Formats: sequence, structure tokens, C-alpha cells
Amino acid sequence: MHPRQHALVFLAGAFAIAVASALASPSSSLANGRAIFQTGRDLAGTPISAVPRPMAPTCAACHRANGAGGVHLPGGVVSADLRHAALVKVRPAYTPALLERAISTGIDNQGQKLHPMMPRWRLSKTDLHDVAQYVWTQLK
Ligand code: HEC
Repeated sequence: MHPRQHALVFLAGAFAIAVASALASPSSSLANGRAIFQTGRDLAGTPISAVPRPMAPTCAACHRANGAGGVHLPGGVVSADLRHAALVKVRPAYTPALLERAISTGIDNQGQKLHPMMPRWRLSKTDLHDVAQYVWTQLK
């Protein structure tokens, strides 16, 4: 093969890989978000952790697998409804960025502190993004 043909084949291959990974990432991101929400571990198997309780249960354990919430927890607090309609009904409506803030810092859409029963999650940037996207797009 002529060297220039080699270069073209290489470029075509690199392009195909770039397209494939761009197409694959939204779904693997959602799969990661689902794993975090439902199992408490990300797709790499890393358990999610929070302060002040590092061994906090899964999101689903408190908010139900479908995110509907309504679970009465110790301290007299009831878990929030995380389904999309509930998140956009409140004023100001949640956005993906506000969700990430609530999950990681416990500050809600209005800038108020959530009850301490809601853990303050310590997640990697990717895991925080992915679980927020899962909540935002998949819980109906
Ligand atoms: C130990 C129980 C528990 C676990 C585990 C838990 N939550 Fe919560 N969460 C709550 C409670 C209780 C509230 C409501 C707090 C309040 O009313 O101040 C809440 C509130 C929220 C809110 C704010 C909703 C709103 O209407 O302002 C979001 C977002 C949220 N949780 C997401 C998550 C995600 C994502 C996970 C998993 C990474 C998770 N929660 C795990 C108990 C929990």
C-alpha cells in the first residue's frame, strides 16, 4: 500500500472510533447513572459514598426504584419525588445543574438545605453527571 493510503486508512479508522464512542457515551452514561441509582455502585463497581454516612443506602432504597419517593424515614422526613414532572413543578424548576448541586451539597432548587436524611454524596464528576442525567431523563 502507498504510504498515503496507509494514512487514509488510519484516519478513517480513527474517525470511526471517534464516531462510535460519541454515539456510545450517552447510553453508557445512562447505564452508569442507572447502576448508581439502583445498585449504589457505578459501572466500574465502585460503591458510591456520602457524608456523614459513607455507607448510605442506594438512591432507590429511599426514593423507590421509580423515583416516586414518599418513603417515611427516621426523623419524620419523607423522601422526595424525583420524577420529572415533580422536579419541574417546583419553583424555580430544577435543572440538571441544580440536581447535581442538590445531590452533592444538599442545597435544593430554592437554595435551602435539604433534611440531613438526604446524604451529601461524594461522587466523581462523571458519576454525579450520570446519576443526575438518569434522574432527569429516566424517572417518569
Ligand atoms: C437515606 C435516604 C436517602 C437516600 C439514600 C437518598 N436520598 Fe435523596 N432525599 C432523601 C430525603 C428524605 C429527601 C427530602 C429532604 C427534604 O425534604 O428536605 C431527599 C431529597 C432529594 C433530592 C431533592 C428533591 C427536591 O424535591 O428538592 C434529590 C435531587 C435527591 N434526594 C436525589 C437523590 C439521589 C440521586 C440519591 C442517590 C445518589 C439519593 N437522593 C439518595 C433521602 C434519601
